[in-house]
Amino acid sequence: MSILITGAGGFIGFHLAKKLLNQGIPVIGYDNLNNYYDVNLKISRINELNKISSEFKTPFTLFKCDLISNNDLEKAFSGKDSSNKDFEGGPPEIVINLAAQAGVRYSIENPSAYIQSNLVGFGNILENCRKNKTSHLIYASSSSVYGGNKNMPFSEKDNVDHPVSLYAATKKSNELMAHTYSHLYNLPTTGLRFFTVYGPWGRPDMALFLFTKSIICNEPINVFNYGKMIRDFTYIDDIIESIYKIINRRPENNDSFDFLKPNPSISWSPYKIFNIGNSRPTPLMDYIREIEDSLGIKAKINFKEMQPGDVKATSADTKLLDEWIGFKPSTSIKEGVKKFVEWYLEHYNVQFGGIS
Ligand SMILES: NC(=O)c1ccc[n+]([C@@H]2O[C@H](COP(=O)([O-])OP(=O)(O)OC[C@H]3O[C@@H](n4cnc5c(N)ncnc54)[C@H](O)[C@@H]3O)[C@@H](O)[C@H]2O)c1
Repeated sequence: MSILITGAGGFIGFHLAKKLLNQGIPVIGYDNLNNYYDVNLKISRINELNKISSEFKTPFTLFKCDLISNNDLEKAFSGKDSSNKDFEGGPPEIVINLAAQAGVRYSIENPSAYIQSNLVGFGNILENCRKNKTSHLIYASSSSVYGGNKNMPFSEKDNVDHPVSLYAATKKSNELMAHTYSHLYNLPTTGLRFFTVYGPWGRPDMALFLFTKSIICNEPINVFNYGKMIRDFTYIDDIIESIYKIINRRPENNDSFDFLKPNPSISWSPYKIFNIGNSRPTPLMDYIREIEDSLGIKAKINFKEMQPGDVKATSADTKLLDEWIGFKPSTSIKEGVKKFVEWYLEHYNVQFGGIS
């Protein structure tokens, strides 16, 4: 059995591929390695995966291709590797779609990247899953679907019909598209609403990376909404453990679905939606203090207005996740930020004497 991970060169996809290869599960990676952020970081992640694959003698292949090319996607589903030879692990039985145009703020600058990757690309994923009778499609949604919701913590049972960015709208659309395939073709699908994921090998466009880099270089950091933001920061290992456990928990048809009081997180079809968050919403300024403590340097702060498309606070209710897999994220930001900073200093070979 093999697992197809799209976005394998990305932050979450890389960590997931690493975990699966470590467990002896063959992985087919699919990623266009686009230049939304530093491509070298993506290449370093892929090099790391190739190393682990040879160390653990577990097959890994990477299709450096775009989701919008259905032709290439068909090859990745066919059981061949990227050089068109039979893939040792066989064709993928399970598909985990993490490739997407990520980022809330960039969706204002470049909306078409979101339409292409997140809608056209996701449509191609669904069609290939249908044709190949994939046994379980797991895909990334986002906490941003909660948009204007003020009901805290965010529950999967809440209405999410008021997105405030195109990014959020594409993620909500993915959930709707997945439901149609679960209903029409009996395709088991699980959508995961990730809450601000952080950790080693993280994304250079996200706060932790940007802040750490600027603080080290003695440059000011931009802090939006004058620092009055709250995020449910979720450590990468907790995200990976959750996905790993979800792989083997396939949704099934549900005869007890209440059509008169429909719960949006489930269906009569094999379809589920889960929040994956830490359930410990943290003020942004506390997060910054953890970075300062780990680096042993004080940040210079440039307070700015709220940015369009952003939300002030996120907070995850993870009861459903816990009931489904008996696990919920719990890593503290102290521990998680420290691990990120240690990785950053080592990866970028930062030499200075201020580490605590
Ligand atoms: N990191 C977070 O905090 C967070 C929060 C909520 C949701 N998500 C979602 O989780 C998923 C993974 O996020 P991430 O943080 O690892 O992002 P990432 O940008 O690091 O990874 C996404 C990967 O997908 C690839 N990709 C993008 N468009 C593609 C296309 N059209 N074809 C092929 N490859 C393509 C990129 O090159 C990248 O390597 C995304 O769907 C994202 O929207 C992430």
